[in-house]
Amino acid sequence: MNSPAEPAFLCAAYAVEDHAAAVARLHAALEIAFDACTTPADPSQCPAFARGMRGALAVALAEPALILAGQREGSSERYRRHLIAADPAGRYTVVALVWQPGQASPVHAHHTWCGFTVLEGALTETLYAWEATRGGADAVREHLRAPGTVSFGGGGGIHRLSNDSDAKAVSLHVYGVDAARIATHVNNVLPLATPAQCATREVNSDARAHDAPPRIAHG
Ligand SMILES: [Fe+2]
Repeated sequence: MNSPAEPAFLCAAYAVEDHAAAVARLHAALEIAFDACTTPADPSQCPAFARGMRGALAVALAEPALILAGQREGSSERYRRHLIAADPAGRYTVVALVWQPGQASPVHAHHTWCGFTVLEGALTETLYAWEATRGGADAVREHLRAPGTVSFGGGGGIHRLSNDSDAKAVSLHVYGVDAARIATHVNNVLPLATPAQCATREVNSDARAHDAPPRIAHG
């Protein structure tokens, strides 16, 4: 995790050709990460891939034209996803997420590896631990993710992103799925743990048998 200087992402409008060139440079940076990967079946297990992914996210931070004006538009209903780039080979998909004040993701793990950076505004990332005996996730700490924050990890970590500020936030995410599965095979939505005093009666018997969170739902 690092936090370089705030990028100049509060831009006006960029030409489509500038956008296409920025997307091409991001693809090239991601290709470097895959070329360095020694564990293609699970790139999240390769330190060189992780370094390459962080390098690619740094490239994205330096490319204001990567996100078109229309791809910075949010929704009043929930955080909004915009497709930015998709690997022709299906190894990854890049999306921008636009968060209006007060919007948040569900508590979730991932079905795949994920890298993300904050382009504009700030997000709060809450981290959770899986409590098998109480059938859900417990919040353990939270971090403010400022512009320039870069993160990469496998799918096991449980977290929730939220915009707790009074301004819009935009983040960029690279997921290890092809574009056709971006809406259905990324988030493993998980329940919160039941309160400790109720755990004996309400714990789910299937969840009780797992030390790791179960794969409950695609979302
Ligand atoms: Fe996530």
